[in-house]
Parts: sequence; structure tokens; C-alpha cells
Amino acid sequence: GVSWKLADHPKLPKGKTVAMVVLDGWGEAKPNEFNCIATAETPCMDSLKKGAPEKWRLVRAHGTAVGLPTEDDMGNSEVGHNALGAGRIFAQGEKLRTDLLIDVIMNSCVMIETSWSVIVHFSAKLVDLALASGKIFEGEGFNYIKESFANGTLHLIGLLSDGGVHSRLDQVQLLLKGVGERGVKRVRVHILTDGRDVLDGSSVGFVETLENDLAKLREKGIDAKIASGGGRMNVTMDRYENDWNVVKRGWDAQVLGEAPHKFTNALEAVKTLRAEPKANDQYLPPFVIVDENGKPVGPIVDGDAVVTFNFRADRMVMIAKSLEYENFDKFDRVRVPKIRYAGMLEYDGELKLPSHYLVSPPEIDRTSGEYLVKNGVRTFACSETVKFGHVTFFWNGNRSGYFNADLEEYVEIPSDSGITFNEQPKMKALQIAEKARDAILSRKFDQVRVNLPNGDMVGHTGDIEATVVACKAADEAVKIILDAIEQVGGIYVVTADHGNAEDMVKRDKSGKPLLKDGKIQILTSHTLEPVPIAIGGPGLIPGVRFRNDVPSGGLANVAATVINLHGFEAPSDYEPTLIEVADK
Ligand code: 3PG
Ligand code: CO
Repeated sequence: GVSWKLADHPKLPKGKTVAMVVLDGWGEAKPNEFNCIATAETPCMDSLKKGAPEKWRLVRAHGTAVGLPTEDDMGNSEVGHNALGAGRIFAQGEKLRTDLLIDVIMNSCVMIETSWSVIVHFSAKLVDLALASGKIFEGEGFNYIKESFANGTLHLIGLLSDGGVHSRLDQVQLLLKGVGERGVKRVRVHILTDGRDVLDGSSVGFVETLENDLAKLREKGIDAKIASGGGRMNVTMDRYENDWNVVKRGWDAQVLGEAPHKFTNALEAVKTLRAEPKANDQYLPPFVIVDENGKPVGPIVDGDAVVTFNFRADRMVMIAKSLEYENFDKFDRVRVPKIRYAGMLEYDGELKLPSHYLVSPPEIDRTSGEYLVKNGVRTFACSETVKFGHVTFFWNGNRSGYFNADLEEYVEIPSDSGITFNEQPKMKALQIAEKARDAILSRKFDQVRVNLPNGDMVGHTGDIEATVVACKAADEAVKIILDAIEQVGGIYVVTADHGNAEDMVKRDKSGKPLLKDGKIQILTSHTLEPVPIAIGGPGLIPGVRFRNDVPSGGLANVAATVINLHGFEAPSDYEPTLIEVADK
């Protein structure tokens, strides 16, 4: 059993209110016209940077520092919040066979320390390993869906992209090849176009690649086609129940074969819909592919199998519920086919959803949140809907619910729905800040944790002007929280989960904006930039400062830091704390 008792920190006191502020999508980069954070008025964040140099630094928020396969992988909120909360770059050591471990060691720049437990893989790498070893085709989940291959159709639903945040095209390709070799007779792919983790317009190339793979299956006598599609922000991939209509539009197209747009060919569909004014990959309307008689080629019917191939959970939980739950009242499903459904991963360990999956998810245990609550730290967490699960579910190691409801309160502020966030770039920053302020002033909590989504959610729209407004709003929210901390004699930690708003243009290797047809290419995705972390507040005892012996520190080092600021020593296997207390 886990020993939950944390040792007292030799120098740092207990009982200070600690505000833990995560600015979503807020990286550090040189000021220029594409750096919305530098352009925006951000007096509060500026003062933290210009203040005491030993209380502000940068930490790594991408690549292997957050458990991603390579240093070319931009950070994302899932792995960012996992690392912030779990204090370790999460390991799947025990689950892998030694030969696979060796493969991992050879093929990824994962830092190996003395114990296996620091070898870390998040979902993307777990799926890679399962596909590379073929284990994915031997597991319970695959055997379950395989039962339908003889008489039914296999439907694959997911994000068609190589963004590597929610899914990866190369994994879909391997999956298709694998089912082709294992008796599948009929395959239908329901695509969701990206443009958010990858450049807008890249959907066309991804559809071409997929069509090639489907043609290869057809050469082998397998009836394989794209059956429906739509942009990820418009169809299927909502999260945290922000807008069930998004999932409904997906259901109508994928299951019922109904959509406002019909095409006989997916490439033509994407090209035509993209030609509409202001169209972009993220928001393409739903479409279905029909045969020459106008009949949809791939509605989901009794006896079929379905796989949702995204590995990341947040935007799959809702579709998983709609596919799996018998009692379901979020929208009228009209027809509920009897199917065998498996997720690429299990998306929610508490809900056991879905009940079948192809790859076991990473097990992130002993998070800082759980330790702190078990050591009596009363915790408040808040964000608006679109990031609420980030400061709760992801923070707590992809676990929903409270550790101890008597000591915790999680507050969700409803996000605007049915708009793109550049229309309301201030989002709910003020409301989140006010909730945090009230929680701090109430003195009922020892930790008050928030996520301010603006930089990220508006940054993803690619609207530079709106992103500047968004950054200003986030800065104002930070100010409100810091003022409250001042009033109660508390401590603040302000950081971010990954970069986004600090760079809005696609660049070449030398850093120059990339031109396409003479125009710059807007970068809607996250970045590889480091993020700031600042500590301060009247509750910080004299001498507390950032150490200078963890120069490559990353988000995972923040958990031990925060545990220290609550007056405890961090567990010994956590990544080292960023702070020390200098003797005066
Ligand atoms: C999304 O889901 O919105 C993006 O793909 C990733 O953004 P996030 O990691 O900041 O949530
Ligand atoms: Co984001």
C-alpha cells in the first residue's frame, strides 16, 4: 500500500493559502507581431517577470519533458496538466516487456534513470508500442470487435491528423493494415478534420493518404470507404459536455447516415466545403458519402463494430457515452444500433468507459492532488467548462471525482457554446478569477487552483487580434487572484501548461515565417516553447528562491515545488522541486 503521509518540510511552514494559476497556452518567446502575449497589455505577468529574478524562470513544456515521444512534439494540455499534477513524467514500465522497453530506449530520447519507473509513456506512445508489437490485435478489446468482422462492418471514427495530440494518422494506417490482415470484410471510416493541432488546410492531404490506404484494402477484396466526415469543433469532438449538439451532429452523420451535405467522394467533400468563404478544417460542416443512388455508404447498423481511434480522452468521452449507454438523454439518438464498440483507450477509468478498449491507458497514480488532500490540504479547483477537466481530471492523473469530498470543491463555470472563441475572447476569465478570489478570501481552502483558458482557446482560432484581447483578459484575471493572495498573506504559483498564443505563425527551421502562395501561414496549434513559472506572495518566507541546479526543469518539477510551498517534503520519486530556502 501507498504511504500517504508526507514528511514536514524542514523550513517551509504549513497553512499558507497557495494559489496555483495555470495560464493555458501561454509560452515564452521573443516579442514580434505574431507574439500575442508580447503584443497584449499584460502588466501583471510583466511585473512577475521583471520582479525578483530568483522568483521567475522558464520550464520545459513539450517533448520528452512531458512524456511525449519526441522533442518535435509540441506540448498539450493533457500531458501538461498530467505532469503538473503528477510530479513525474509518467511511467508505464511494468506493463511493457523488456524487449519493448529496449525498443523504447533505442527509439525515443527518454531519460533513463536508475529505476524503470521513470521511463515514461503517455497514451500516444502506448498505442505506438501496441501497434509495433502487434499486441493491439491480441487484446480483449480487439477480440471483442473482431467477432463482428465476418458479418458486420468495422467503423473507425476519429481525428484524421498527424497532430499527435488526440490521434495520429500513422496509427490509423497501421490499424487499417492490421484489420485487413485479420479478416475484416467491410470498413467504413468516419473522419474528423483537424486544423487545430495542425495547419488549416492539411485535411486535404490527410484524406488523400487515407484514400490510398483504403484503395490498398480494396485491392485485397475488402470493401473499404470513407463514410462521413466533419470538422472536429463542429462534429463529435466536444468535451466536458460543453455542447451535446456537436456529438449529435456526429451521431446523425456516422450512425444515421444523415447530414446537410452529401458527396460521392470524401476528397471532393473536403475540397468543396473548404472552398466556402471562411471555411476551415476545424469547423467543416458534417457530410455523408453516398452511392450513385444517393444512399449513405456507411451508416452504423446492428451487428457492426465501432472503434474510436483517438487516444486522448477528453474529446472522446461524450461520443463513448452516446455509443455505449443504454439510458441516454443528451439527445435523441433516433436509432441505437446493437454494436460492438471499443475505444483506442479506456477514456475514463472511474466510469469504466468504454467497457472495451484496444490499449490499456497509462496509470497515473499518487498525484500531488491526492497526496495533498490525504495530508489535509483543502483544495479548490476552478475553470470554465472547456478546461474544467484539465484542472481536475487531467491534474489528478485522468481520474474524475474527488479524493475526499469533505476537503475539496471543484467549480465549473459554464463556457459559451455555439461560438468560436475569437468572438468572445475574454471568455470567463473574470468569473474564474472572482471564484478563485472568493475561495481565497473565504480561508476555507489551502490550495486554490485555476486554469485560465484564453490564450489557448482563442489562440487555436488563429485570430491574432482576438488572441491579444484574450491574453489581456487572462492577465487581468491573474491580477485579481494575486491581489486576493496578498490580502490573506498567501503564496502564488503562476505557470502555464504549454505554448500557443506567443507564436501564431508557422515558421521554417531558421524561425522565419513560412510563406505559402505569398501569404503567411497562421499557426493555430500549440508550440514547442517553454513556459514561465513565477512564485511569490507575502506568505513566502525570506530566502525562498528558484534553485539554479535544475536548469532543464519542466512541468513535472512543479508538483514537488507546490507540495513544498504547502509545508511538506515531496515524495522521493517525484521530479525535484524547483525551489530552495537560502540561509540568511
Ligand atoms: C484541443 O483539444 O483543443 C486541442 O487539440 C489541444 O488543446 P489542449 O491540449 O490545450 O486542450
Ligand atoms: Co490547446
